[in-house]
Amino acid sequence: MEDEKITKCLEAAQWAPSASNRQPWHFIVVRDERTRKKLSDMHPYGRFMRESPVVIVVLGDPKKHPKYYLYDPSIATQNLLLAAHAQGLGTCWMGVINTPFEEDMKRLLNVPERMRIVCCISMGYPDETSTSDRRELAEIVSYEKL
Ligand SMILES: Cc1cc2nc3c(=O)[nH]c(=O)nc-3n(C[C@H](O)[C@H](O)[C@H](O)COP(=O)(O)O)c2cc1C
Repeated sequence: MEDEKITKCLEAAQWAPSASNRQPWHFIVVRDERTRKKLSDMHPYGRFMRESPVVIVVLGDPKKHPKYYLYDPSIATQNLLLAAHAQGLGTCWMGVINTPFEEDMKRLLNVPERMRIVCCISMGYPDETSTSDRRELAEIVSYEKL
């Protein structure tokens, strides 16, 4: 996958809003096949990581913002997914924080004790078009009061 496309995705993440503009995030770009396979083996729902050419591991840093270190990287991740989609790339968000394997992943990637792994994002060119669904607006939106 082209470096320029990955950079565009990372720039979209970089420009996400963050509380007090503390930007409590870091992104590890993993291309190495063995590392992707190890990540995939650790994650019970993470098979995409061995199949896709790039995995971006999203970290949150409580030292940069003790309250929003999880929200802000999540917002940045959504920006990243949208930038990927706009460039014709497919992605999958795989949750990591508070799982039994978060510590194993941290060790594998040299992540310091204080930081958290929010999620892993697999990225690649999709070889299929998938469908999905969402709850109806009428069910999830209220006006003026609930
Ligand atoms: C916090 C979070 C954790 C997720 N974890 C996984 C995961 O571990 N494995 C996976 O295949 N998809 C994961 N997903 C993707 C969701 O399953 C997916 O977004 C949802 O099923 C709706 O599908 P769509 O986004 O393709 O419309 C996760 C999404 C979020 C937001």
